[in-house]
Amino acid sequence: MLKKKKIYCILCVVSALLAGMGRAVAQPKLSPDTVEDVLRALTLEEKATLLVGANQGVLYGGSAESIPYEIPATARIYDNRMGVGGSTYAFPHLGITPIVMADGPAGLRLSVKHKGKEGEHYCTAYPVGTALASSWNPALVRQIGLAMGEEARAYGVDVILAPGMNLHRNPLCGRNFEYYSEDPLLSGKIAAAMVGGIQSRNVGTSVKHFAVNNQETNRKDNDDILGTRALRELYLKGFEIVVKDARPWTVMSSYNRINGPYTQEDKALLTTILRDEWGFDGIVLSDWTAKRNTAAQVRAGNDLMMPGNRDQMQDIVRKVRSGELSEADVDACVRRVLSVILRTNTFAGLKPTDCPDLKAHAALSREVASEGMVLLKNEGGALPLSSDIRTIDLYGNTSYRFIAGGTGSGRVNTAYTVSLKEGLTAAGYSVDPYLDRLYCSWLDWQDALNAEKTFSILNPQPPAPEVYMDRGQLFGRTPGDVAIVTIGRNAGEATDRKIPADFDLTPAESALIRDVCDAYHAAGKRVVVVLNVSGVIETASWKAWPDAILLAWQLGQEGGNAVADALRGAVNPSGKLTMTFPLQYFDHPSSYNFPYDFVGPPSFGPTMSVTGRKEPLVKNVDYTLYEEGIYVGYRYFSSFGKEVSYPFGYGLSYTSFAYSRPSVRQTSDGLVANVTATNTGSAAGKEVVQLYVSAPEGGLEKPVLELKGFAKTRLLAPGESETLTIPVDSYTLASFNPSASAWETAAGTYRLLFGASVEDIRCTAEMRIARGRSWSVHNVMNPAQTINELTRK
Ligand code: BGC
Repeated sequence: MLKKKKIYCILCVVSALLAGMGRAVAQPKLSPDTVEDVLRALTLEEKATLLVGANQGVLYGGSAESIPYEIPATARIYDNRMGVGGSTYAFPHLGITPIVMADGPAGLRLSVKHKGKEGEHYCTAYPVGTALASSWNPALVRQIGLAMGEEARAYGVDVILAPGMNLHRNPLCGRNFEYYSEDPLLSGKIAAAMVGGIQSRNVGTSVKHFAVNNQETNRKDNDDILGTRALRELYLKGFEIVVKDARPWTVMSSYNRINGPYTQEDKALLTTILRDEWGFDGIVLSDWTAKRNTAAQVRAGNDLMMPGNRDQMQDIVRKVRSGELSEADVDACVRRVLSVILRTNTFAGLKPTDCPDLKAHAALSREVASEGMVLLKNEGGALPLSSDIRTIDLYGNTSYRFIAGGTGSGRVNTAYTVSLKEGLTAAGYSVDPYLDRLYCSWLDWQDALNAEKTFSILNPQPPAPEVYMDRGQLFGRTPGDVAIVTIGRNAGEATDRKIPADFDLTPAESALIRDVCDAYHAAGKRVVVVLNVSGVIETASWKAWPDAILLAWQLGQEGGNAVADALRGAVNPSGKLTMTFPLQYFDHPSSYNFPYDFVGPPSFGPTMSVTGRKEPLVKNVDYTLYEEGIYVGYRYFSSFGKEVSYPFGYGLSYTSFAYSRPSVRQTSDGLVANVTATNTGSAAGKEVVQLYVSAPEGGLEKPVLELKGFAKTRLLAPGESETLTIPVDSYTLASFNPSASAWETAAGTYRLLFGASVEDIRCTAEMRIARGRSWSVHNVMNPAQTINELTRK
């Protein structure tokens, strides 16, 4: 017996020696065929290092050996010439290259300063996410994605940390500008186009923030408590569409909790739903935090912890050694990380050229802007400006300091931003020199006041207060041919917007619009308001005053040129709202469950214990109850007949369109709807046709109508028509039944409503579905108590 044991031991030693020799002599090199060999060759420490971002290393730069903490001696750090957002470790002895990542949603956030080279390189700032989505044009968004992919490729970036696609649950969310819409179908389709475009250049994407990351206040700990119907139908739906339609390489798990667990530790979310149900085959990486439980993340399928620190790596090793975490779970994550590495341009050995075609991308940015601008009002054909207009009186700070995009990680390191003044001047208009001097010296003075203060991407310089214009002086001036008043708003990561002086106009802004309108109208001149804003603002109190309102959003570096193009009619704005503009903020049901002025409205819910934290917890800061359920945005306003300022899907044009020949045809898996749009006006233009569906009575309660498809015409000349085809599959018609844990498409008669907006239904068709269908899914992610119990209703 003893002899046997001895022989066994000798054999073990010999085989270990042989393995060691093997390792020394012939290490496998990573290739599609050697993933398992590489996995076997990695030590536990090396595996753990692969699951943790190399950000600390990136900050230090240089090689692994120069970093003041332990990582395996075989690990190497990406040479961070360009200030990227993060990367993984490389293991050259096994052919494992790093994955290099950079933000973000409206262009790359790289501070491109090259070692040994003079000067700084820049990236193209495109229209922000909301503006892109307002185009309702996935083909166009794909083009932007393609250009962003080109730029990433040229600068050596493997994965762009975009698109951001959380739902616009509430207008005050500080990051709404990065996101697309209050509707999940529209968000999903636009995101899929963006992912498709970027990934066509063999650059990966990271759709974010998965999921229910709908507020920035206490974003790293807030627990979003909601029922599974709203979760599946609204907050996960867009992600489901993009995962199934466009197969993103990576998904970024969000900071917040959902119904208790942090998303980064939630296996039900990251594995059961994302992988098992939707078929996701990439990696999940965490948003940039280091605080979560490493074992729970690995087990949940959060493959990569970003930005990464040594504690996490050591913790993984310790937990495997103690048996708390199985090495098989670690291997599963490593396997997936390796599979993404294999797809990267860095792995393929593609050398960065550092020379993207920034000129062409700037031109594209300007071109797409016209499709994202939304014309809210145009009385008496005030726009486009008539050809005899030469002189423009330009009011509002923002006219002179146009805002290209939001702050935080959504910010782009752009070389320039064209202001409206510059755009109008370049288009041949003469801008009033007195106002120009007044505003520019005011802004310079504001800069001087801020000169001593320190600002950062998460703490940007606040906007200058609006110049006070004396009413008497306004009446006393000799007016130019037209007045333009620009109202600006900015927002960004880590803070939610406020109601006073943000959602609402400041008294000075309101007075400026009113007084300019009074003075110029008295002189027989028109007034145009341009909104250079990051999100929804209050419009009901002042929209009657000006002749025209152009919602420009934030259009990237070419903003001023793009708006000038639209004002003079060189392009015809064809954007439509992707969210509702309410009469007032509190018309949104979610407003009672959203933090404002940090502490939020009076708490009427119980203090919570589901998060396992000490009571009392602060409502809307520690936890947020999604009491409105599925009644978000137009789903609420339409179903409850609530008046709005501008409805979802709304947007005017310099021309008009008639809809005709609506039809619907049943297919083996749903339906195909057709409608013809005809340009009945006198300018060329594009029209967005929205297909809403009203489901049959009975069965699940539903909103009165829901967006199930949309299409945009090509540029139609006056008199020209185009027949649009909008397919809708049976699954898209389904609603989620929480008690059956299944998606259900009910039998019965469906009404198809072809609309120019949710409130402007132009024609209808009907279709009968004889037999209902259902799709069962896992019964997971339920709140510990129902929302009704929580609110003691
Ligand atoms: C943001 C992410 C971003 C990451 C890296 C985080 O603070 O939430 O959206 O991708 O930083 O910059």
